Parts: sequence; C-alpha cells; structure tokens
Amino acid sequence: ASSLQLACDVPSFSAHEDEEYADVDWDKLGFGLVPTDYMYVMKCAKGSAFERGGISPYGNIELSPSAGVLNYGQVIMTWKFAGSDALKMAHCWDFGWKQGLFEGLKAHRTENGSLLLFQPEQNAIRMRYGAERMCMPSPTVDQFLNAVKQTALANKRGVPPPGRGSLYIRPLLVGSGPILGLGPSPEYTFLIYASPVRNYFKARTAPLNLYVEDEFDRASRGGTGGIKTISNYAPVLKALTRAKERGFSDVLYLDSVGRRNIEEVSSCNIFMLKGNVLSTPATKGTILSGVTRRSILELSRDLGYEVEERAIPVEELLEADEVFCTGTAVVVASVGSITYQDRRCVRGVFMRNLGLLDEFSLHSYIKRWKHRVEFRTGGRMACRELYDALVGIQTGEMEDKHGWVMEI
Ligand code: COI
Repeated sequence: ASSLQLACDVPSFSAHEDEEYADVDWDKLGFGLVPTDYMYVMKCAKGSAFERGGISPYGNIELSPSAGVLNYGQVIMTWKFAGSDALKMAHCWDFGWKQGLFEGLKAHRTENGSLLLFQPEQNAIRMRYGAERMCMPSPTVDQFLNAVKQTALANKRGVPPPGRGSLYIRPLLVGSGPILGLGPSPEYTFLIYASPVRNYFKARTAPLNLYVEDEFDRASRGGTGGIKTISNYAPVLKALTRAKERGFSDVLYLDSVGRRNIEEVSSCNIFMLKGNVLSTPATKGTILSGVTRRSILELSRDLGYEVEERAIPVEELLEADEVFCTGTAVVVASVGSITYQDRRCVRGVFMRNLGLLDEFSLHSYIKRWKHRVEFRTGGRMACRELYDALVGIQTGEMEDKHGWVMEI
C-alpha cells in the first residue's frame, strides 16, 4: 500500500469551476498560501523510475510516521542548532540525509488568456541535479514539464488577472516511504501544488534592510547549499526570525570557512553594482544557482553592463553603488541598507531616486542605528532596469529574445 494517500479535506475555491476566476481578492495577495483546486502527484519505488502521475483535488496528504522525509528531514535541523560550536557543526550540517527537494516557478496570465511559464525546463534540470546529490530518483525533464503544465492549467482560475500577480507553482520531491535506519527511502513522491501570489516582501516597493549574519552559516563546503533541498531552509529560520525582530527584512549569509565573502540571502541571490560592473557571488556548491540569477546575468549583458561571478568580500559590498536581490519569489528587490557588525550602510541615492528616503527617514535612520551610518551615492538604476526587463518578458509584454517563455 502506498504511504501517501490523498484526503481532500482542505476547502479550496473549486465550487465554481465554470468561472474564469476564483473568488480571490487579487489586491490583497502577498506571498501567503491561497490553496488552488488541484495538485499533481506521481510516485515511484526505490530503484525504479517515475511512470504515471496525475491531477487530483488539492488536499492534505498522509505520510507514514517513518517516512524518509520526516525522519531524516527537519530532525537534523534541530540537532544542527543544538550544538554550541557552530563552526565545527557546519561540516556535519550538509550531509545529504534529508530527502526532500523543492522548486518554485511562476505562471503569468496574458491579456489574451494564455498562461506563460518562465524557463520551466531549468527547474526540471535543477531538480534532477539535486536528486542525484540526494540519492533520489527524479522525474525526467519531460515528465516535470508535463506535470507543471497540467497543474497550471488545472488551476487556471487561480492565476491572477494580468498585472496583478502570478501563480506560484511549487514542485516537491520527497522520500515518502517508511525507513528507520539511515538510508534512501523505499518510495518517492513527486507532488506539485500552486498558489496565487504577488509580492514576497510585505513592504511592496520599499528597499530591503539586510542584516549580515556572522554567527550562523547557511551552507558549508561539500554540502548541499547549491541544490534546492528543504534542508537548506530550516537552518536559516533562527537567524531570520532574530533579524526580523530587530526590524530587518532579511539576512545575508557569509561563507562558512572564513566568514568573509558574501553568499546568499535566506530566500534569494544577491548582486552589487559598482560603476558599470555588476557582480554576484560565484556558485561553487554553497550558493543556489537561481533561475532568476542566471536570467539577470544575461539581461545585464544585454543592457551593456559588465558582469562578474566571483568571490565578493562583505567589505566590498558595503562600498557598492547599488545592491539588489533576485529570486523567483522575490523577483528583483532593491536593497536599501546593509548592516554588518557595527556598520550600517544606507544606499542613499537609490532610495532617494525611488522617492522613499526623505529628510525624516534619513534622520530616523541615524537616530535608530547608533553605530556608524554611511551613505552611498552614484550608479545607474540597475535594479529598476533589470526588474522591468525581466518582468516584461515574464508577462509577455516585452519581446522574449532568449526564448525563455513557454506559452500554454
Ligand atoms: C523561490 O524564490 O521560488 C524560492 O524557492 C524561495 C522560497 C524561500 C520562497
């Protein structure tokens, strides 16, 4: 018998399936879950390949208490943070014991009613790469694409009207079979669900205030920081919660060896602009190779920026003209300030250009942050330019020269 049974006991908006749109207040969308009508499920046993999957009503799933993902998933996270010697622990952190991978991609609705998926094959490839690292079977690229298309179309009523958000599609691959001793799970489940979303960060267009974490690490050398495993996300929650309590928007992590070079933010990649050179940390196994990150690198070249992927010391980031974050959920989000130890760098011109930094806010920044506050000026509005270029392609409003968009 399968370890995962579907129980359709979560109310969703499937009552009026003949209607073009679900009954959702599109203007209130943020990045919270709004369940849609259907999900996609496909399973396979260890040693065999995924074969047939299908759409079923969205609902809770049932898992064996000894499912691989539960036992060797977040349990490890708790232990990770229980130790006091974080550096020593860092090397144990990333063993591939936690069999769970996820992806995230978006579908946008066009004025003519079709749906646009953005580079879905990149998510399929990344899931296969991650599955190999985690000793899991994974759907083929074709199976993945087919499942994503079916999920998006089945939930079309949940795709916001043009210009008011997108359908966030979340594929998962988990070890669902029962296992007690440490080892690969005897059964795997590939599942996709979806939710309409809009802005990831609450404060819509306000620049992010990043806190540079220098106690906890996100990933370590030889670990799993470069793949999209669920186990990369629980370990950041402590640092993230602590930073949010102090009024920051998100946390920037440093490399775990020297705590000197910047890596990535909890939920996204990071870029900096100095003069005409746009730089982002090179992906050397500890940083996720984001689909948005790669697209931004391409678009930057198109727009005439010089582009570098390299090690970036945190001190250098503090001297940048402009800093921004990229990710599927986050899209392209400007960074207004960076706090590292006793330094807080405020990106003056950028905030002023957006009309968000008036005399009063400048003053309250200085009062609130007693340590050294520095203001940076100069630079071109790369973040705005790149946001417009990316979203223009994703929504079908701009020409898709790279062939990134798949219309369904
Ligand atoms: C995404 O951007 O799709 C992600 O997976 C980040 C997640 C933490 C929301």
